[in-house]
Amino acid sequence: MMERVLEPEVMEDPKQVLAYAQADFEEENQGFVDQFFTLYPDLEHPHILDLGCGPGDIPIRVARRHASCRVTGIDASQPMIAYAEQAVKKAGLDERIHFLCQRFQDVELSPPADAMISNSLVHHVPNPLRFWYCLKTLLKPGATILVMDLLRPENPEAAQAIVDEQAAGEPEQLRKDFFHSLLAAFTEDEVAAQLAELNLSRLMVDVPDDRHWIVYGRVY
Ligand SMILES: C[S@@+](CC[C@H](N)C(=O)[O-])C[C@H]1O[C@@H](n2cnc3c(N)ncnc32)[C@H](O)[C@@H]1O
Repeated sequence: MMERVLEPEVMEDPKQVLAYAQADFEEENQGFVDQFFTLYPDLEHPHILDLGCGPGDIPIRVARRHASCRVTGIDASQPMIAYAEQAVKKAGLDERIHFLCQRFQDVELSPPADAMISNSLVHHVPNPLRFWYCLKTLLKPGATILVMDLLRPENPEAAQAIVDEQAAGEPEQLRKDFFHSLLAAFTEDEVAAQLAELNLSRLMVDVPDDRHWIVYGRVY
């Protein structure tokens, strides 16, 4: 198994942001949101954090799916947040969705939130323990979470094969970013070890398909 190869943490390159904001992640993003509400069908008026919210597609899907939730999207990229704010305004959801342009490591929240979702952020983070630690600082005891990210393939050739298969007709920028994301991703065992190190082993780690890991459960 190849070692992890880090990519830049925050997505600030305008070409990269544009390619990501214009890409069609409908199936993956809606599946992620549906899974969250299937796992936790009884949330009442929850305040939900979306860490690394990118261009805002997931917060919008969350707010459409749950009529009384509030969502705070957090992303350290100013251009990503600009796209997100525009999309939320267009969707008419700016009363219930707000954004913080900040690294999640620097966010302080009072009161803490009821739930947290995060898709495709963890592979960007140099020290993943900082990500898992924020579950303890940003969330109420008993808060519900769903985190999803890519699985690191065995070697660069396997990563390229995944890009060629799953992103065949996509713009070159997106294919390049996807390749680097796969190289920066974690294995299921690495994620389980990170959770154990922070005494978070009550959370479940699962591999729902050949490309992703998820972590879910309640944080105590
Ligand atoms: C691959 S995108 C995923 C966007 C969105 N979650 C989605 O699934 O469409 C990762 C996002 O995380 C953001 N990010 C990376 N490191 C971050 C950090 N330390 N704090 C906040 N956001 C961060 C990047 O700027 C980027 O917008």
